[in-house]
Amino acid sequence: MLMVVMCCGAAHSDTPVWKSISDDGIHDPDNPAISLLQEPVTALSILPFDTAGNQVLWVRALQEGYIDPRTNIYPDTNIKVLDLDIIMPRTGSAKYVRFPHRAHTEWLDCSNCHDAIFKAKAGATPVTMLKILSGEYCGRCHGAVAFPLTECDRCHSVSSATQPGVVKGQ
Ligand code: HEC
Ligand code: HEC
Ligand code: HEC
Repeated sequence: MLMVVMCCGAAHSDTPVWKSISDDGIHDPDNPAISLLQEPVTALSILPFDTAGNQVLWVRALQEGYIDPRTNIYPDTNIKVLDLDIIMPRTGSAKYVRFPHRAHTEWLDCSNCHDAIFKAKAGATPVTMLKILSGEYCGRCHGAVAFPLTECDRCHSVSSATQPGVVKGQ
């Protein structure tokens, strides 16, 4: 990953609740340096609100300029944003999945996914929901550092009358 700026809790609510650093179960409350850290509520409550995950719509936060993360550590790293959607049709009775390259390549490098997780050919990777729920494919990130797998409609977002394959990004 080019940068890791998110970490998802299990929250699912219409009103934001961010645990304080001293009782999030991750930081040591007895560490005297804890008061130097910024509280999540201070940083996250000013960003576009989401009902799931860590309660920030990160794609919007980036698009609308709320955050401006550094894209590269080494000046010679080549950043490539790809505006290409893949319509994935093996969804049984659920809606088809639209995988947007743009929203991903604004955070990630091609090599984060190709070819270790996904083949660079539409339909070539044997993705199933069970494998995703076991932490493979999309589940490497979704439910860990990106929005959780309970948000079915965000992936299963297009009608099954849509032509599967590769389309220009929206
Ligand atoms: C992070 C994206 C993502 C989320 C969230 C997600 N899915 Fe999927 N789902 C996929 C992908 C990708 C496939 C495989 C599509 C393909 O290979 O053509 C799939 C396949 C499926 C299938 C087909 C059968 C199978 O076992 O593969 C069903 C049914 C399904 N999902 C239901 C759900 C339901 C219900 C939820 C919410 C609880 C959900 N999905 C959440 C991405 C997602
Ligand atoms: C977050 C993961 C991810 C990242 C990052 C990513 N891709 Fe993909 N890419 C996919 C998935 C998923 C598919 C569809 C694979 C499938 O259907 O088997 C795909 C498919 C493709 C395809 C096939 C299109 C076709 O005509 O069949 C190409 C080409 C491709 N990616 C290029 C790139 C390039 C170039 C980058 C970097 C700029 C990139 N990808 C970054 C996940 C990713
Ligand atoms: C290498 C990590 C990674 C993988 C693998 C990955 N994603 Fe994502 N995805 C992200 C990140 C990071 C974001 C942006 C943060 C967020 O929305 O939670 C994102 C956002 C999205 C969005 C939201 C786009 C928007 O405009 O709001 C969709 C839809 C999505 N992913 C679908 C998928 C599907 C479908 C797969 C598997 C075919 C997949 N992702 C695989 C990391 C990943």
